[in-house]
Amino acid sequence: MKFFADTAVIDEIKELAETGLLDGVTTNPTLIHKSGGDFVETVTEITKIVQGPVSAEVVALDHDGMMREAEVLRKIADHVAIKVPLTPDGLKTCRKLRGDGTMVNVTLCFSANQALLAAKAGATFISPFVGRLDDVGQNGMDLISDIRLIYDNYDYDTQILAASIRSPVHMLEAAKIGADVATAPTKILMQMFNHPLTDNGIASFLKDWQATGQKIV
Ligand code: G3P
Repeated sequence: MKFFADTAVIDEIKELAETGLLDGVTTNPTLIHKSGGDFVETVTEITKIVQGPVSAEVVALDHDGMMREAEVLRKIADHVAIKVPLTPDGLKTCRKLRGDGTMVNVTLCFSANQALLAAKAGATFISPFVGRLDDVGQNGMDLISDIRLIYDNYDYDTQILAASIRSPVHMLEAAKIGADVATAPTKILMQMFNHPLTDNGIASFLKDWQATGQKIV
């Protein structure tokens, strides 16, 4: 399973990249707003830190406008994935960009039928928003399961990118179902390290080591 960081904060991305666990980054207009940085400059900086896919989202709603914005964004680096919304214009743009060899992340997916459409349009990634479905009383993970089933039925190579991840349990469930990628805020990725028995074990080993009076270096 690949891990993407769902953030546009450069310091966080640098730190995560140093763990060696980071396979890519996803951004969206909200995350760019939160980071406070210039969109193109921020994405450019991220592509220098992370060599995996870096998603950058268009904001135009029509195909021609999306293509104009995608032209700017895909010039930043070959590993930029253009993020388009799951609309007819978004999928038309997806088809065109994929024909040119550009990676495309189809975002704002809330149903398995939408995911089927994105796969037929040749999307590199489909982004089902798990947390936002949970927010409205639907089980977001059921959507990941349905998409996995459908994509496997037809051997679609579109990668399922579980998005809107809100907890380490979401990460675990997405991995059990077989999502290809999960994108999560830095906090959630770091929470995956946590276990009290690990902390207790370190404390107890350290205490016993000190009692030996020895040093390794
Ligand atoms: O990758 C999409 C993600 O950023 C949406 O997350 O928490 O705003 O629903 P959230």
